Amino acid sequence: MAFDKRILCIGAGYVGGPTMAMIADKCPTYKITVVDINPARIAAWNSPNLPIFEPGLDEVVQRARGRNLFFSTDVDAGILEADIIFVSVNTPTKTFGQGSGMASDLQYLEKTARQIMRVSQGPKIVVEKSTLPVRTAEALDHILNSNDKGIRFEIVSNPEFLAEGTAIRDLQNPDRVLIGHHQTESGKVAGQAVVDIYAHWVPADRILTTNVWSSELTKLTANAFLAQRVSSINSISALCERTGADVEEVAQVIGRDSRIGNKFLKASIGFGGSCFKKDILNLAYLCQHYGLPEVASYWKSVVDINEWQQHRMVGRMLEQMFNTLAGKRIAVFGFAFKADTGDTRESPAHTVVRDLLAERACPVITDPKAMKEAQHDLADVLSLVQFSDDPYEAANGAHAVIVCTEWAQFRTLDWKRVYASMEKPAFLLDGRNILDLSALRAIGFEVQCVGKG
Ligand SMILES: NC(=O)c1ccc[n+]([C@@H]2O[C@H](COP(=O)([O-])OP(=O)(O)OC[C@H]3O[C@@H](n4cnc5c(N)ncnc54)[C@H](O)[C@@H]3O)[C@@H](O)[C@H]2O)c1
Repeated sequence: MAFDKRILCIGAGYVGGPTMAMIADKCPTYKITVVDINPARIAAWNSPNLPIFEPGLDEVVQRARGRNLFFSTDVDAGILEADIIFVSVNTPTKTFGQGSGMASDLQYLEKTARQIMRVSQGPKIVVEKSTLPVRTAEALDHILNSNDKGIRFEIVSNPEFLAEGTAIRDLQNPDRVLIGHHQTESGKVAGQAVVDIYAHWVPADRILTTNVWSSELTKLTANAFLAQRVSSINSISALCERTGADVEEVAQVIGRDSRIGNKFLKASIGFGGSCFKKDILNLAYLCQHYGLPEVASYWKSVVDINEWQQHRMVGRMLEQMFNTLAGKRIAVFGFAFKADTGDTRESPAHTVVRDLLAERACPVITDPKAMKEAQHDLADVLSLVQFSDDPYEAANGAHAVIVCTEWAQFRTLDWKRVYASMEKPAFLLDGRNILDLSALRAIGFEVQCVGKG
């Protein structure tokens, strides 16, 4: 079949895979190829067991795969034939050298840019899909357009706002799509080419265009604001616990103020995921770099509160459980960083398990989707941790249960059965405020949650 356009995505991860599957589904006359250097990941994308769990993803991939959606490890072949190249490689926090622990590690991005330059035989639009420090497009522009073949590359920024767990819904019906392009004639043409892709299904008034620097910075700012709300309500949750105020009541009432709004005001064990922490640290690093240390420390405090909130949980258990957890079996309900994903990157459950081990407790982890990932993350302490697919089995003989992920399954467990199998007194800390605490108390549990005294 002759395709109208050939789109390549470099990086078949949580963003590249679902985003390209959606574009392929909505644009059947475009050929979409997703490439990755990780052969196991590509093999999984080509198999019935996709490499990531995301509600609705299987159906979208099944409709398009083999028709106009292809997964491959042949990066060069993909570059050669593409008109538009999305770059969706990982941009983790740097762990070495200058900026270690804060700046973005851009080595994967730069390698990709150099490969595109080396292999290309004609002009291309290169789209930044990865989350990047503001002004990265300048570096990309510099590298790509230093080629000696006379080929012109246009850089467009198109950050991704999907949330894991609702990625397909977010891609299908986005609040907005952001496309940043240079304000030159060729920059506008390139920007329009990317607009044209999304215009297949996204209403025109939701496709926003800005200059490239605004687009790059908007993504970091959006994540910083979202995380800031979580840290704000979590900081108040601690005060509620000390004073007898109820954080859910406080959140509900402030959320009725239309200037504040009611979303993202749920107190919890803290935020996780691969993005919030790394993007805020990157933002803070940029502020420092541009001579704004006060702004840097303001944003850094959002991460500090989150870490403090995560560490507070085992402290509360200790206090309630007679100041010792040593040798006690503790059931950890949920290891994914949130419900409806198998992703465990920066999961608060990880902090909880490490804190439990520091107290010489015996954690038993259960999670409906993230057991493999949990075992991978805890590879260095596997002999000290147990795993069970069955929450009843995990709780059997435990002194306490701590709910770390808001999986719907946990709400509907037979909590009488859980209670009956536990040591007494049976403690429960609901780190996500998802359970009916008065029902649990009536069963006999000694219950704590977040933000209620
Ligand atoms: N995960 C999210 O929810 C989310 C949301 C919005 C934006 N983002 C951003 O999107 C980017 C990708 O995130 P992700 O979660 O998909 O990461 P990921 O680690 O799941 O996927 C990145 C993929 O890129 C591949 N890769 C790295 N270098 C490569 C190269 N030179 N050639 C080919 N493939 C290469 C890796 O093998 C990996 O499979 C990051 O910048 C992230 O900040 C992520």
